[in-house]
Parts: sequence; C-alpha cells; structure tokens
Amino acid sequence: DAEVDPARVRVPPLVIAHRGASAEWPENTIPAFIAGIDQGADMIETDVHMSADGELVIMHDTTVDRTTDVRALYPNREDRSIAGMNSAQIATLDAGSWKGEEFSGVRVPRLAEVLTLAHDTRTGLLLEVKHPEIYPGIAEAIVTALRALPNYLDRALAAGMLVVQSANWAFVEEFHGLAPEIPVGVLGRPCPDELQDFAEWVDQINPEFCAADEDFLTAIHELGMTSLVWTVDDLGEMERAIDAGADGIITNTPDRLVEVVEAL
Ligand code: G3P
Ligand code: CA
Repeated sequence: DAEVDPARVRVPPLVIAHRGASAEWPENTIPAFIAGIDQGADMIETDVHMSADGELVIMHDTTVDRTTDVRALYPNREDRSIAGMNSAQIATLDAGSWKGEEFSGVRVPRLAEVLTLAHDTRTGLLLEVKHPEIYPGIAEAIVTALRALPNYLDRALAAGMLVVQSANWAFVEEFHGLAPEIPVGVLGRPCPDELQDFAEWVDQINPEFCAADEDFLTAIHELGMTSLVWTVDDLGEMERAIDAGADGIITNTPDRLVEVVEAL
C-alpha cells in the first residue's frame, strides 16, 4: 500500500456545495442543488429534519420562518417548527421568494427528492442531521430512506460519496450502530482523547474553518480519518484550508472553489 501523506489525503480536495449553490440560489432547495452540480460540485451538503407526520424534510433551521412565506400563508399559526407541522402543510410553502422573486414557487424538498437527484446525477451527498434529539426515530427513518431508493446506496457507498454527519455526537454513534456500512462524520473539534476514540468507527471529523489548522487536520489524517472544512467562501481562506490539508471544502460558492481547485 502507498504511504498516506498525513498533510494531504485527498488531492484535489472535494468541492462541496453548502445547502447547494446557496450564495445565489435559495438555500436547501432543488434549484440550489442543481446549480451547485452545474457549477461542478462533487458533493451537496444539506440539512435534514422531520415533520410531525414523520416525513424527512430539507431545511437549515428548525422552523420554517426565515426561508419560507409561512407568516403570509398561515398568519394565525403559532407553531412554525418543522417538528410541529405536517408535511402536507410544509409542501404548500414557498421557499424561494425570500431570496428573490425569480425563485417564487420553489418548494421545500423532501429528503427522497434529494436522494433521487444525487442518484440521477451521480453527485455525492453530505447529509447533516440537525438537532436529532428533537426528532425521535429520525436515525431509523434516514436509514430506511437511504435503503429505499433502488440501487442508490450500493453505488454511493462504492463511490465513497455518501456521509451522514451531525454536531450531536451521540446521534452519530446511534446512526453508526444502525447502519455501520454508511460513513459518518462528526461536526466540530473533538479534543485529542475523543479523536482517538472516534478513529475506531468515525470516517470524518469536520471542523469549522477557524478551528481547522494544519496540526488538527494532520492529527485526523494520522488516525486514518478525513476532514471536510466549513463554510468557506473567501478565496484566501479557501487556499488556507487547502494548505492546511482539508480533504474537502464546504462552500456557498462552489463555482469559486472549482476555479481554485482546478488551478492547483
Ligand atoms: O456542513 C457543516 C455546516 O453546514 C454546519 O453549519 O449551520 O451551515 O449547518 P450550518
Ligand atoms: Ca449544514
């Protein structure tokens, strides 16, 4: 086997479109994901929640307030959390207009739609599970969804292009126990002892840019894991993350990162 260079596991680094190409498109929507793919992203990063009736839906926040027209559509509604709404109600929301009138009518996607897009376009998927502690059964539901799409899981795993990550490390462990074949990522910056333990079963340690120095990324690599760094839109910061050894960079501007990576 070739020796692993601890400073550089993945060359060139993966381009990961954060909530899609979300600088210009409404985040976490199908058009934003398609734009990211069109711009050359290797993977799409997205955030998963669960509605009151158990549907897996794509959104960053736990409520639909910031990125939909919920207040106009349901002015008397007090509970605008995803956990408190049914998927049929969420499906009526406009998740595009807040970003610009040209995006009006864009809907909140379900996880199943994103899986289909990833499968059809052979794009990698970095699935962040947001606040799993408020969604009982979300780990099982995600495993079921990943296994339900014909031929998806085998191909994505063979290509190394599917990772489930969370900032809730207990959830990451629960998910790994349910589906050990699916790579998992830990969001954050574990201390050295924790890093050693994670190396037994975790595939990725994914820190915020400001925590992603070369020593930390080298420690991750020496333990046999890889690291995706978030969220980097600035050109100089992209170059610094690459110099530090990032295996992938999560960005709202995949077109800019593609240029940087192609110039390496
Ligand atoms: O992929 C990690 C990154 O997305 C975490 O931050 O708040 O954008 O989900 P956030
Ligand atoms: Ca995220």
